[in-house]
Amino acid sequence: MKLMWWLWSLNKHNQWILKLSIGILLMGLAFRLFVYQSSPRLDQNLDTSFVDGTDKSRTRDPVLDNLKEPPAEAVTVGFQEPEEMPEKGTCDLLTGDWVPNPSGPIYTNVSCPLIEGHQNCMRNGRPDTGYLYWRWSPLDCELPPFDAQRFLNLMRNKQWALIGDSISRNHVQSLLCMLSTVEQAVEVYHDEEFKSRRWHFASYNFTISNIWTPFLVEAAIFEDNNGVSTSEVQLQLDKLDKKWTNLYQSFDYMIISTGKWFLKAAVYHENNKEVGCHICSEKRNLTEVGFVFAYEKALRYAMNFIATSKHKGMIFFRTSTPDHFENGEWHNGGNCTKTTPAKAGEIELKDLNKILRNVELTEFEKASAKAAENGINLRLLDFTNLLLSRPDGHPGPYRQFYPFAEDKNAKVQNDCLHWCLPGPIDYWNDIIMEMAVNG
Ligand SMILES: *[C@@H]1O[C@H](CO)[C@@H](O)[C@H](O)[C@H]1NC(C)=O
Ligand SMILES: *[C@@H]1O[C@H](CO)[C@@H](O)[C@H](O)[C@H]1NC(C)=O
Ligand SMILES: *[C@@H]1O[C@H](CO)[C@@H](O)[C@H](O)[C@H]1NC(C)=O
Ligand SMILES: *[C@@H]1O[C@H](CO)[C@@H](O)[C@H](O)[C@H]1NC(C)=O
Repeated sequence: MKLMWWLWSLNKHNQWILKLSIGILLMGLAFRLFVYQSSPRLDQNLDTSFVDGTDKSRTRDPVLDNLKEPPAEAVTVGFQEPEEMPEKGTCDLLTGDWVPNPSGPIYTNVSCPLIEGHQNCMRNGRPDTGYLYWRWSPLDCELPPFDAQRFLNLMRNKQWALIGDSISRNHVQSLLCMLSTVEQAVEVYHDEEFKSRRWHFASYNFTISNIWTPFLVEAAIFEDNNGVSTSEVQLQLDKLDKKWTNLYQSFDYMIISTGKWFLKAAVYHENNKEVGCHICSEKRNLTEVGFVFAYEKALRYAMNFIATSKHKGMIFFRTSTPDHFENGEWHNGGNCTKTTPAKAGEIELKDLNKILRNVELTEFEKASAKAAENGINLRLLDFTNLLLSRPDGHPGPYRQFYPFAEDKNAKVQNDCLHWCLPGPIDYWNDIIMEMAVNG
């Protein structure tokens, strides 16, 4: 979308015009967003139908040793953007291609008992398997495959936390599954709703926490377990969610993320006063200020906390992830039917994803300078390139168990936002490991 880039480039010259223009643009998007928020929740509740009866004795051989050089005919799916921030250090691990990987994933639905039902595409009967046989290959350098044994050795006595929404949960399961090729994690904590959880690897005294805080700031959410909302979110833009800030100093490594939940209907509060709303209820006399207003403030507040926190470990800020709904969205029959990675330029980042990401990159850039001054090791994880070319990596209808078993033409909810496990986001761990190892 050229318009957005134009708006974006204006930013450097005139903030006010930018805001006005975005305001107008968002009015245009309002209808779409209204429909968006009335859809099933983006976050998925705990699926209690976790895999059971797992055969733990069958752990696959890691395929770390026999990965081949990319074949010459490898599909190129490079996607570059003008304001991409270069990776600190040696090379940009986040720009590259998906190349054939005949050895496939290092874990399966059988070897890993921790895959959430909605993302367990193998168990749920997804018929094609081609999506499992690609690996991420950065353009300018070699990316060693994730080495679970080495990772666990390095992380002895350490604590990690993945902090954010259901994509962070998706990611924590990927990481746990990869590590489970060496040792099964033991769950040592969960909150009442099984949304925040913690696992321990006993032989390594290594802990991974997953903290559910979809906004990073305090939010009162009024949704039932089916994602049906009875009232708009009450969001405190200037109060960070203590769920993560209270534990913040205890973690050695954190991956912090947010995004999609800001698109929902909400009343915004600052300094304990209502300051505006988004997808406003007609009953209220509040000004529609657009979600960008809230996203910028909340993110700036979180980033400022991080950049001035005196934290001694390593903090990754992860940008929000693109979805691949086609022919509609969550609620109205959107689906994602591709079974192979896309080619370069074939898939463009959707406007909403662009808007979120632009806020994220801007706020990160500001915080990053301040963090450097304060000796905070704050790094960016922008997986947009990597994920955009994987429309084939989502559960689609296979978020349910054998959705077409009874009726071949059954109308089922598609998930084109979260990722199958095993699947593309397993390769996040290759990159994260490389960044963690290299400081
Ligand atoms: C794993 O997936 C296969 C299909 O790929 C299925 O036959 C099997 O029952 C699943 N096992 C578990 C434990 O989920
Ligand atoms: C385990 O790790 C924690 C830090 O995560 C540390 O405080 C504790 O002393 C360690 N326990 C042992 C037995 O080394
Ligand atoms: C809504 O707010 C405006 C401006 O603050 C005020 O003039 C108006 O009376 C209010 N309407 C209601 C129904 O409260
Ligand atoms: C995807 O959605 C479109 C539009 O609703 C529909 O025509 C198509 O059959 C769907 N594809 C699958 C595989 O469900």
